[in-house]
Amino acid sequence: MLEGKRILLGVTGGIAAYKAVEAVSRLRKAGAEVRVIMTREATEFVTELTFREISGNPVTVDMWAPVQHWNVAHIALAEWADAVLVAPATANVLAKAALGVADDMLTTTLLAVTAPIFFAPAMNCNMFAHPAVQQNIKTLEARGTHIIAPGTGKLACGAEGPGRLAEPEEIVSALEKFFAEGAQLSGVKVLVTAAGTIEPIDPVRYIGNRSSGRMGYALAEEAVARGADVVLVSGPSALTPPAGLQEFISVETAQEMREAVLREAETSRVIVKAAAVADYHPRTVSDQKIKKGDEELSIILEKNPDILKELGQKKRPGQILVGFAAETQNLLQYAREKIEKKNLDFIVANDVTKPGAGFNTATNLVKIISRDGEIEELPMMTKKEVAKRIFDRVLPEDLKSRK
Ligand code: CTP
Repeated sequence: MLEGKRILLGVTGGIAAYKAVEAVSRLRKAGAEVRVIMTREATEFVTELTFREISGNPVTVDMWAPVQHWNVAHIALAEWADAVLVAPATANVLAKAALGVADDMLTTTLLAVTAPIFFAPAMNCNMFAHPAVQQNIKTLEARGTHIIAPGTGKLACGAEGPGRLAEPEEIVSALEKFFAEGAQLSGVKVLVTAAGTIEPIDPVRYIGNRSSGRMGYALAEEAVARGADVVLVSGPSALTPPAGLQEFISVETAQEMREAVLREAETSRVIVKAAAVADYHPRTVSDQKIKKGDEELSIILEKNPDILKELGQKKRPGQILVGFAAETQNLLQYAREKIEKKNLDFIVANDVTKPGAGFNTATNLVKIISRDGEIEELPMMTKKEVAKRIFDRVLPEDLKSRK
């Protein structure tokens, strides 16, 4: 998977810098080409010469060194890379990257990079647990940056806990896994729907639901990470659409979602409907704001089309249709009925009354139920993790084996 891949390694000033030497050796053995940028501090731990010899390429440290070739070094390196790995990543480089500070060759390059970035943090366990460091990691992750979690054990400073740089083989396998997954769905169109629809009552009011869009956005992000051409159709959400989508279609009502979804579904191989579609809309939408009166106010609701059911009726051979079922009771029974009624291949069911499950939470607690009745019950995990497990499970065999 790493054959011919161009890996730009950033080495920062931590005692674990020596392990990065072994990571370079392993990357090269796996067929990757490696170029190294060291911070000044890193050169206190390992020499430039070591990385030059082990990578077989000149090492860059200084922004202001006399030029060998006429190109702007940090831009040239940023454009060259298929992936960037910062190992070890100190608390300092994580903070700078989270803020976008560009005060040396490495941090300046990081801003110019469009390829995926991996940080392998290494530091004292109390530093790693510090809220500032954890916040910076969260900020980077939210931007799509990958974090290779440090190991737990005896640290160079004598303390024990999480903070030890991941082992070189783990670092290399994280990159391998990334490139493997990145190829899995290449050329495959995946349609994801997310968030809730809103149904207007008058110009200032609407009927909505509690869906934040987090589950659907995590699914779209995961499909992008696996190399798919992803179209995300989303109701209103405060979230930023993931980078790398083929198309982002923003809709408000169930009717608008239906139009976008039916159009895109024709060319999609996998469709995952995580959106919380309103089942009803007000029969009439007032042109003017409804003024309050002394009497009760009734709003007559009309049925919305069931988009998923329509997709099930039109399903093409080989197309995979995955629905969601948010329930408050009789979870399995209702979920199974929905598989039948809507002609689904899988349904992801959750009991939204359970803590840590359902709407507006970072985590979810779901069961993935297949058409033939198999149930995979997942423990509570982040929506990002749930998204991975869903794609591990629902892909047809020909795509599963494409690694
Ligand atoms: N769904 C849809 N169109 C609708 C309603 C739901 O496409 N008008 C989809 C949702 O995106 C989800 C699945 O159907 O994937 C199940 O949604 P849910 O609201 O749980 O089920 P309903 O079919 O609406 O049934 P009920 O509300 O009775 O539970």
